[in-house]
Amino acid sequence: MEKKTLITAEAEMQIPVTEPERQYYFIEKAKENLAKLMEQEKRSFTFCVTTFGCQMNARDSEKLVGILEQIGYVEEPDEEKADFVIYNTCTVRENANQRVYGRLGQLGRIKKKNPHMMIALCGCMMQEPEVVEKLKKSYRFVDLIFGTHNIYKFAELIVSRMNSGKMVIDIWKDTDKIVEDLPSERKYPFKSGVNIMFGCNNFCSYCIVPYVRGRERSRDPKAIIREIERLAEDGVVEVMLLGQNVNSYGKTLEHPMSFAQLLQEIEKIDKIERIRFMTSHPKDLSDELIEVMAQSKKICRHLHLPVQSGSTRILEKMNRRYTKEHYLGLVEKIRTAIPDISLTTDIIVGFPGETEEDFQETLDVVRKVEYDSAFTFIYSKRTGTPAAVMEGQIPDEVVKDRFGRLLEEVQTISARMCAKHEGTVQRVLVESHNEHDERLMTGRLSNNLLVHFPGDESMIGKFADVRLDECKGFYYIGKIVEK
Ligand code: 5AD
Ligand code: SF4
Repeated sequence: MEKKTLITAEAEMQIPVTEPERQYYFIEKAKENLAKLMEQEKRSFTFCVTTFGCQMNARDSEKLVGILEQIGYVEEPDEEKADFVIYNTCTVRENANQRVYGRLGQLGRIKKKNPHMMIALCGCMMQEPEVVEKLKKSYRFVDLIFGTHNIYKFAELIVSRMNSGKMVIDIWKDTDKIVEDLPSERKYPFKSGVNIMFGCNNFCSYCIVPYVRGRERSRDPKAIIREIERLAEDGVVEVMLLGQNVNSYGKTLEHPMSFAQLLQEIEKIDKIERIRFMTSHPKDLSDELIEVMAQSKKICRHLHLPVQSGSTRILEKMNRRYTKEHYLGLVEKIRTAIPDISLTTDIIVGFPGETEEDFQETLDVVRKVEYDSAFTFIYSKRTGTPAAVMEGQIPDEVVKDRFGRLLEEVQTISARMCAKHEGTVQRVLVESHNEHDERLMTGRLSNNLLVHFPGDESMIGKFADVRLDECKGFYYIGKIVEK
């Protein structure tokens, strides 16, 4: 007994206490464990990561994949065949949660047939205590549960699960820590998401994000630049800067810096040709940013500017801290400075207390701004948010009717906006084969629209000039032109 304690203590002494060294240590340990298992079973072991939700989650999943590949797992696209299934969850709307429970039930049945199968759940949904309680009670077959603040600890948690054989749960309420320089595996070789900040301090009254992603923290600009320089060396030509509210980047840094200043620094990186970012909060969008965008050769002609509602009364209840007029004024300023910009938005229908008049205000904004596209959402009640207990929750039939009318308006306008570019020649970044027709390639315009045109695989990751021959509503069919 005494001897064992000593050995454990000795082993523990070798475990680095600083990050990321500690995680590299656990990656090695996990690798040793997996190698033994592979030797024993005489086969390789596979993983499948499924991402729910937004681009922040997609980027987190790349970090999970990076760690899994270093450990020695091999990717398997079919989760039913994988030995290690990971769900990176979203909880922004209730239906996302229901989808996870549904698929998990199915996975439980598959796991009974594969004794080596492991299931991990992480991401926003795990930050809700009720969810973890439910999993502990009714989904005992889950092996690993962790949250949004400690994904960098994935390797350590895997080792803990491998060694204990028991369900491992590690959820932090919040953190001020940002761990740099861990492995990550990009989905595309030529473009990448880059986190510039984490968390959100806005507390829009309907939104659960500030509770599950914690307080706003900006990454050190030097670490961001270093990451992008490395990406550029590795063949990346387009970066998407990610944050819940990029317009407030840098406010909490030791040496404060604005988002516009950060963009100017990134612009200087040679091989980066396109810069995108999301999401912008209208209340924090500065004149400085508009000017930097207007001057820039690399920042894409696209701005995602969620309006949520067109009614000042509802915006106030949503705690958005701008009015309809302020928003429209901002749009005008942006369009004047950058006439070819594409504007997209998020809209919520059926927020508590929304009347037909309020809804008409939303339609009015949609018609005035003429969005190139809009994500429309039915309000979803999230327990713990101020809106969940507000009076005047709207009946389903009313919300559905408004949602239908909004969708029609949005689609008619975006088809008209898309058609405006028909016949022009645009520079596109070739991203992939067309999903439905192998002979066609798919490219993305600066304004984020897609065009499909004849071509071959060798073009992927390169730029091409394409004539947009025919607008199909929200994408184009085109042809490459030699310049
Ligand atoms: N209900 C419906 N939509 C929501 N969103 C955020 N929270 C909710 C909710 N409770 C939408 C907002 C946000 C987008 C990412 O999701 O429009 O901009
Ligand atoms: Fe949610 Fe508002 Fe923060 Fe966006 S800005 S993540 S909608 S609280």
